[in-house]
Amino acid sequence: MKVAVFSTKPYDKVFLEAANANHEHDLVFFETHLTGDTAALASGFPAICAFVNDQLDEPVLRVIADGKTRLIALRCAGFNNVDLAAAHDLSMTVVRVPAYSPHAVAEHTVGLMLTLNRNIHRAYNRVREGNFALDGLLGFDFNNQTVGIIGTGQIGTVVAQIMKGFGCHLIAYDPFPNPALVEFNVNYTDLFEVFSESDILTLHCPLTPKTHHLIGAQALQEMKPGAMLINTSRGALLDTQLVIDALKSGRIGHLGLDVYEEEADLFFEDLSDRVMQDDVFARLLTFPNVLITGHQAFFTHNALEQIASTTLANITAIERGEPTLNEVTLERLKG
Ligand code: NAI
Repeated sequence: MKVAVFSTKPYDKVFLEAANANHEHDLVFFETHLTGDTAALASGFPAICAFVNDQLDEPVLRVIADGKTRLIALRCAGFNNVDLAAAHDLSMTVVRVPAYSPHAVAEHTVGLMLTLNRNIHRAYNRVREGNFALDGLLGFDFNNQTVGIIGTGQIGTVVAQIMKGFGCHLIAYDPFPNPALVEFNVNYTDLFEVFSESDILTLHCPLTPKTHHLIGAQALQEMKPGAMLINTSRGALLDTQLVIDALKSGRIGHLGLDVYEEEADLFFEDLSDRVMQDDVFARLLTFPNVLITGHQAFFTHNALEQIASTTLANITAIERGEPTLNEVTLERLKG
């Protein structure tokens, strides 16, 4: 099938071309994001391949549907950037890569926790400057701490397994608890208890209308003072401005982010010679107890191989009219 691949980075091309040896689709790579301004590039392509910050709202979907696109192959797990109702009305099929390496994201999540707790990011700079003082680097044992996990799907499950290894108590909220985790001594409870009991709170649920700004005024009030908050899921799970206020007051003790509400204008690009225009993001960077990575939690060799092979297998299945479990339907938004 002829596929327009948007938001292509050099590594996407390498992994997709290697995986395409088994499929022989006609892949045409565009570096640009898919937006209202670039949607016309998809004209004549029955399929497009998109990533997390491509814009797949109703106006863009209408343009690409007019250009005869019928298949949207997301090369990511999250699908919050797709207007599924509009896609459905336009008879478009949406497929995704539901699981490529939950370990990649879970391990990065734990990396953020460890770095923040033991101030490794600050120690790295100090030692390089010949400053071996320990003041300000004091951490705490993970052993016996309570870790709250919101969303115990593929990634949340691996986070639970890793944190169990540290000797943490695990509590979780998910509308669909994972029975295997109950066996594993994860205590499913309500959101209030997860917020109020967690020393470390980590988010692994999808961004939906229901989870938008999940960490807002109420959650911040209920959270344990000084708790660590980690978000490697989607930026808009947090109300960033309120989280900044909570950092200033000390309500949040540490913040680790791999995602940001307005990341589409920042992440995946080298903007190091430009003046930062996003004042909210700039403020976040000033806190010593905030650690931000630019949506790299998925970025392992293993994950990129899996993403490429599943994306192309999804396209092949749809082309052949075969069923695929990786189709995203409107029902998935319920929950
Ligand atoms: P998954 O679909 O396996 O698990 C999501 C879990 O969240 C499910 O168990 C679901 O029942 C639960 N859930 C749904 N609504 C909820 C709610 N209102 N409250 C609490 N839990 C709820 O997804 P997976 O693979 O574990 O990924 C989780 C999220 O991680 C994705 O939605 C995506 O946004 C993000 N992600 C981030 C990456 C990165 O590089 N930073 C890479 C891959 C995914």
